[in-house]
Amino acid sequence: MSLSNSPDPAVREAVVQQDLGNVLHPIVQHRTLETKQMVVTGGEGSTIVDADGTEYLDGMAGLWCVNIGYGRTELAEVAAEQMRQLAYFPHTAMNVPAAALAEKINGLMGGDYHTYFVNSGSEANEAGFKIARQYMKHEYPGEYRFKTISRYFAYHGTTLATLDAGGMGERKAKFEPFSGDFVHVAHPYCYRCPFGLSYPSCGLACVKNMETTILGEGPETVAEVIVEPIMSGVGVAVPPDEYLPEVESLCRKYGILLHVDEVINGFGRTGKMFAHQHYGVSPDIIAVAKGISSAYLPIAATVVKNSVFDSFLGDPSENRQVAQVNTYGGHPVAAAVALRNIEIMEDEQLADRAATMGDYLIDGLRGLVSHKIVGDVRGKGLLIGVELVKDRATKEQLDAAQIGGVVDFCRDHGVIVGRGGGGRRNGTTITLCPPLVITRAECDRIVETLDRALGTLDIG
Ligand SMILES: Cc1ncc(COP(=O)(O)O)c(C=O)c1O
Repeated sequence: MSLSNSPDPAVREAVVQQDLGNVLHPIVQHRTLETKQMVVTGGEGSTIVDADGTEYLDGMAGLWCVNIGYGRTELAEVAAEQMRQLAYFPHTAMNVPAAALAEKINGLMGGDYHTYFVNSGSEANEAGFKIARQYMKHEYPGEYRFKTISRYFAYHGTTLATLDAGGMGERKAKFEPFSGDFVHVAHPYCYRCPFGLSYPSCGLACVKNMETTILGEGPETVAEVIVEPIMSGVGVAVPPDEYLPEVESLCRKYGILLHVDEVINGFGRTGKMFAHQHYGVSPDIIAVAKGISSAYLPIAATVVKNSVFDSFLGDPSENRQVAQVNTYGGHPVAAAVALRNIEIMEDEQLADRAATMGDYLIDGLRGLVSHKIVGDVRGKGLLIGVELVKDRATKEQLDAAQIGGVVDFCRDHGVIVGRGGGGRRNGTTITLCPPLVITRAECDRIVETLDRALGTLDIG
């Protein structure tokens, strides 16, 4: 492997000073950057390299997104060629790559969908909320169906509406108050069931809670339910198999749209092209981002079922067209790159690979239960959580600083792992979401490094 990096401490230091003096970074405390920084200069496969020459195995695929791995120079050629041909024109007109990408997405989703292009996962969900509301105005004139039902501890994006939809109190606190148009219900997190029950004797109390909420709010006020099939932000919660079909049945029963957030789950991550395909449901609105281009360029989409699309058809005088626009939606260069990215996934059967490698990695991680602080190992495909506890019997959460130590130990030993859970920044689940091209040897390295990191915390 060549990461074409020639370490030069002086150049690195110059970048650090330039950055510290000028950049405002997301979510990290700048004071910590004064003493410890990564200046990422290259990547290949599942590995990235810092300007000082240090290589890291990226167990998080960047921010859960570089599905085909780093260093695919072929995508640079695709981008350059498209830029030479047509760099941009608004998507009120048609363009070649966006049409082909929409056709590809429709094919992957079973052939009953149209795609509205945006630029980020937040925007994809936000457009989904608006499309659901507009659909309800068309289909139920005179009624006021506007609410979205979502789950506590979900994450659906960073804009005000998507934050409101999300159920992470800590992330929302600084921006309150919110509109109140997003009504939250209990999430299907079996390891810490919000009702203190166990599956299957619980009878899916979380779905019953959703139905009670819909009835309490009044179904005639509800436009949609939003769910991320496998909840990433809570520390990777895989619901029981019947959960999503039962949520879909509720939506059908009350005339509510089912909006599925596939921003992380989609494009092979969980062992199928889309996570909802594990559960045989047929969503009305599907938000996709991240893996759609493996983050080689920013692009995302709100994919709508044709029954929703049809509601937007009519004579121009009826004013039924999609009532929103964004400058970069359907960007030809991003679309061309996304299309080739998906073709690579298909050629290399990366969804199948995620299933196989995911099983392999989860098996390895299950061996870590020899550490008493490992409470739960769960996941689907290459979307995995290892929840750490003080005590397995009580499930008391590990101290934030201790789990920070695990993450730091791994990074200091060349392996990047994430952390999340409980909707908190300092959650106590180690998350793994590596590029789908990860090798067995690299999976072994993640397990070995975590093993050593956990060893530093072994108690009793
Ligand atoms: C499930 C989910 N939905 C939506 C988003 C928002 O995507 P973006 O950061 O591209 O706006 C994220 C981001 O991590 C996510 O994890």
